[in-house]
Amino acid sequence: MNRWTNATAGVLALGAMVCVSLGVLGGGRQPGGAGQSGRKLVVGFAQIGAESAWRTANTESIKSEAARRGIELRFSDAQQKQENQIRALRTFIAQGVDVIAFAPVVETGWEPVLREVKQAGIPVILTDRTVDVSDDSLFVTFIGADFVEEGRRAARWLAKATGGKALIAELQGTPGAAPAIDRKKGFEEALREHPEMRIVKSQSGDFTRAKGKEVMEAFLKSPEGRQITAVYAHNDDMALGAIQALDEAGRNPGKDVLIVSIDGVRGAFEAMIAGKLNCTVECNPLIGPLLFDTVEAVAAGKTVPRRIVTPEAVFEQAQAAEAIKARKY
Ligand code: AHR
Repeated sequence: MNRWTNATAGVLALGAMVCVSLGVLGGGRQPGGAGQSGRKLVVGFAQIGAESAWRTANTESIKSEAARRGIELRFSDAQQKQENQIRALRTFIAQGVDVIAFAPVVETGWEPVLREVKQAGIPVILTDRTVDVSDDSLFVTFIGADFVEEGRRAARWLAKATGGKALIAELQGTPGAAPAIDRKKGFEEALREHPEMRIVKSQSGDFTRAKGKEVMEAFLKSPEGRQITAVYAHNDDMALGAIQALDEAGRNPGKDVLIVSIDGVRGAFEAMIAGKLNCTVECNPLIGPLLFDTVEAVAAGKTVPRRIVTPEAVFEQAQAAEAIKARKY
């Protein structure tokens, strides 16, 4: 079990000093997008898909940073399917890329293909989401948020806003995905301190707005769903879909049903300004610069932290109008 989101497993702040020695890799490449031979660095990136505004911003950050540095990016969109990501990794091996990076759609099922990548001598960098593997040497580092902490932050905010009393509908992310598992875990952990806060409905909305709306519509037809006083959505897109469903059902999102979600995308800030969403816990998708700093370090045989956690904030309605001016996604 290799869960780097587990605090005891050594979660490190950005730039922390615990490093893993990488040794010199294949082409002995240099920072700055070029190897010693002057050849461009070639990086394979297997993205999950385009399921949310967060993901779109993440893709844009990665593509633009690669272009800015003159790194050749082989980009693959898996359309939310693990088999497509596995196929992309095998293609990257066949192409002999210098480094492979990917955001795994789910946590499990990666060991065989990652062993093939290791055998090919290609270093792997995980971004955004982690994998559950028994062999730590199958990837070099994991760059991304602390999803458990995000779940705790959402629950703490809700406890404060409701005085510790709420009947909650939870919209989970993609089943088996690290953020769905960890955001649920962190939220439930913080809820244990508030016995009068209960999750009465919980289902996956697959991180999409359409599914978030559909699931909320179904919730609102059930006896427990009709009593909800709060919604916890594992991402903003599902929260925005749920808000639409609540509006259409004649409920009052943001007022008699409090909404807290995760990501901090522009649409969430707009919904806060409109008074329909109450809080968004930030999850930063703009990791392109950090990713390619790490790619260049790895390709140059330098040591990098085993875990790189992106720093993030929590935003409430009262801050939204000011904060939106500085939002980049
Ligand atoms: O893995 C990060 C999550 O994936 C984001 O919260 C969500 O919007 C995305 O689809």
